[in-house]
Amino acid sequence: MDLMQINVWLDVAFSAIYVCVLLFLTWHFSMFVIKGRFRKAFIEGKWPEHDARPPATPKVLHAFHMFSMIILGFTGMYIRFPYFGGGREFMRNTHYVFMFIVIVGVIWRVWYAFKSKTNADYREFAIGKKDIETAGGVLKYYGYLSDDKPHVAKYNVMQKMSYGLFLVMMVVQALTGLLIWRYQLPLINASLYTGTAAIVGATGVWMIRMLHYVLNWGFIIMTTVHMYLAFSVDVPCALDFFGIKEMDVVEGGHGHGHAEEAPVFSAVAPAAD
Ligand code: HEM
Ligand code: HEM
Repeated sequence: MDLMQINVWLDVAFSAIYVCVLLFLTWHFSMFVIKGRFRKAFIEGKWPEHDARPPATPKVLHAFHMFSMIILGFTGMYIRFPYFGGGREFMRNTHYVFMFIVIVGVIWRVWYAFKSKTNADYREFAIGKKDIETAGGVLKYYGYLSDDKPHVAKYNVMQKMSYGLFLVMMVVQALTGLLIWRYQLPLINASLYTGTAAIVGATGVWMIRMLHYVLNWGFIIMTTVHMYLAFSVDVPCALDFFGIKEMDVVEGGHGHGHAEEAPVFSAVAPAAD
């Protein structure tokens, strides 16, 4: 099989996987309704409780990141499948601009997680023994095999794993992207691309590009599931996270600010940043 055939095979395989993901989510949402979770939340208004509202900085960074990722996914897919004519230069250049924007956003979010004076929240993302012990329970709850959702931290273990994976994927996406970047660097009369090709050869460049393309699908799939969950299981939290509508906070409620090591947020006022 030559490399071009593998490219097409990957397009077909990932499109099929994506259709399966959408079918799975359709099944999941039907069960959400059948099992009464939709009624309880959307009709009776019984949403998960939170004891603090999310602070501003992570919300703003997330929105900025989300916007950049959508543009990168859209322009990246155009580079692979030019679905309309004449946009090649523009879409490439847009990808090149947003790749820097997203890299800055990710570095900023990681810096904030460790170094913020008021809300260094890196521990919220760490997976400990207690989280792992709840993995079966969380999966059973989301698989409709049980009705109690284990609660030990702000994010459940699946959220922690996905958020950690998002970060690893971003680092690999940025590195592979920069290695295939066809930009003539000033002064050295060469581009990273020619440098990469000189070291790893044409097949090496193809493999790096393929990894970038596979991760692109990884992002599309994970973001679809992430969006589905945001707008089904906890809509008030999602609306608050996007600054659309403040959610109610319940003293001693589950969720934000409830993790053992989490900073103490005020139960009534929006959390300070
Ligand atoms: C994180 C920083 C990123 C960098 C540095 C980067 C860089 C690049 C570069 C240099 C190219 C080649 C463009 C060309 O042929 O001129 C490319 C292609 C592409 N990028 Fe990115 N990118 C990044 C993030 C993303 C993200 C987040 C996605 C998707 C969600 C994405 C999806 C794609 C796709 C689908 C292609 C086309 C691959 C192909 O040739 O088939 N990129 N990227
Ligand atoms: C496309 C639409 C998206 C929606 C509707 C959305 C929604 C949300 C919501 C509601 C939360 C808060 C969860 C909570 O506090 O319990 C969240 C957190 C998060 N999302 Fe998204 N998201 C989107 C895109 C993305 C993308 C593209 C990424 C990464 C590639 C991402 C990564 C994260 C991460 C890492 C968190 C953890 C909290 C934080 O960053 O402060 N999201 N998202």
